[in-house]
Amino acid sequence: MDEIKILVLYYSMYGNVYSMAKEVVTGIQEVKNAQPLLRKVPDLLPESVVKKNQDILRAVEWQKDVPVATMDDLRNCDGLLLGTPTRFGNMCSQMRNFLDKTGPLWIEGALKGKPAGIFTSSISLHGGPDSTCIATMLTLLHHGMIIVGIPSNTPELMKTTSGGTPYGASHVVGMGENFKELSEEEKQLCRFLGKRVAEIAVKLKHNI
Ligand SMILES: Cc1cc2nc3c(=O)[nH]c(=O)nc-3n(C[C@H](O)[C@H](O)[C@H](O)COP(=O)(O)O)c2cc1C
Repeated sequence: MDEIKILVLYYSMYGNVYSMAKEVVTGIQEVKNAQPLLRKVPDLLPESVVKKNQDILRAVEWQKDVPVATMDDLRNCDGLLLGTPTRFGNMCSQMRNFLDKTGPLWIEGALKGKPAGIFTSSISLHGGPDSTCIATMLTLLHHGMIIVGIPSNTPELMKTTSGGTPYGASHVVGMGENFKELSEEEKQLCRFLGKRVAEIAVKLKHNI
């Protein structure tokens, strides 16, 4: 059976979404014949801002070996996991900017029928992680993607007191912090979503 490619496309300013992306990759790796492709979207932050912020500099260092995504990465994937920080209950401008360049892919129908899951990190539990996932779905639905969520009877989702939504995986950092390690449930839910998208992509690709 041919290997399928699952693109993990994300942006992360402080490293939280990046931590999630690594767990998503682990989940994809659990699926036979699925190959994860970790890619970050281009940054829009001015160098002058990055230079002054130790927490951003640390996250830049963590991600220095992650390649920047190309349109061909997206065009050629068999499934997508998309990660973005929650910004005012929506995706970040870096991700919006990348997606706004996908017009040619939309015309080609390059993403039609491919499965996609979403993950996000927010400062607060009620700061809009759900709305970020749902708002992000709109663009992916326009592309004809098949949205994959987390069934709400998933044990870690029933147990978590921090991140995790039926609409996508999430992580809560907490007020006053820029970065927090993922909880065990948050990690498990990231892996679950990565695995689920990859399993569905394998079935769709091979008509099984
Ligand atoms: C402009 C801006 C808007 C934000 N809006 C929200 C928000 O609506 N709700 C929330 O809980 N956190 C909000 N945050 C916090 C980020 O979602 C949070 O820091 C996130 O964990 C960052 O992920 P990252 O470390 O991967 O960049 C916002 C941060 C910025 C800079």
